[in-house]
Amino acid sequence: MKKVVLVTGANRGIGLETAKQMKAKGYEVILTSRDAKKGEVAARDLGVHFHPFDVLSEKSIAALKSYVETEFGRLDALINNAGILLDRNDHILDIPEEKLRKTLDTNTYAPLALTRAFLPMMLDQNYGRIVNVSSVLGQIISFNDYTPAYRLSKLALNGITLMLADAVKGKNILINSVHPGWVKTDMGGAEAPLGLEEGARGLVWAATLPDNGPQGGFFQDGKRMEW
Ligand SMILES: NC(=O)c1ccc[n+]([C@@H]2O[C@H](COP(=O)([O-])OP(=O)(O)OC[C@H]3O[C@@H](n4cnc5c(N)ncnc54)[C@H](OP(=O)(O)O)[C@@H]3O)[C@@H](O)[C@H]2O)c1
Repeated sequence: MKKVVLVTGANRGIGLETAKQMKAKGYEVILTSRDAKKGEVAARDLGVHFHPFDVLSEKSIAALKSYVETEFGRLDALINNAGILLDRNDHILDIPEEKLRKTLDTNTYAPLALTRAFLPMMLDQNYGRIVNVSSVLGQIISFNDYTPAYRLSKLALNGITLMLADAVKGKNILINSVHPGWVKTDMGGAEAPLGLEEGARGLVWAATLPDNGPQGGFFQDGKRMEW
């Protein structure tokens, strides 16, 4: 039986490329996107499944869970990729609170909510791989006051990775944070040194770890990073 993977924010950028690479690995891929039209086109081009999903909508999480249960009866890998970077020019003292909240809701609380929705299915089958797509900007060792919302959101996401890993200790469920590298996308910009293929590689690695693979770590392209 083919393993099933779900990727959030997969209509473009690193998420789309990750969906493509997971399909090439033989997975049933559920490509999700908040824009149904864009998602359907992307999924059709790749020959994968599509389901609309806005990570900020609780109703959307419930509908997605019920779709996965009904159509597949299992989920083997969850790639929490959807993310926003709204505060390139903001500092901790002047960033509007709304930007802080929206960024944390999208980049931090949504991956946690989705994990909590799908973890019971993974625990039932004692198999699961969860990839939280993080960033070096969330590394505490290099913290400063630029892009405060994005940094905090990824720092907290890394904290969630550590907590979840502890919560599933002893089970065959491997949860890790992955920095894709600085990648040419709408978010990364044209001057980024890495292409999509290299950016998605580390996410695919973490989503397909063998049973004795690492748990609760932070990685780039399969190499461990400092928090
Ligand atoms: N590119 C880099 O250099 C880099 C570096 C470090 C980490 N990352 C991380 O890698 C991940 C992917 O980034 P990217 O560069 O591929 O970004 P991107 O090209 O801007 O794509 C972001 C994706 O997230 C989706 N998204 C945003 N808000 C959403 C919501 N509420 N519900 C559902 N989907 C939503 C977007 O959907 P729409 O098309 O509808 O907006 C889009 O599909 C992010 O978590 C980012 O923080 C990227």
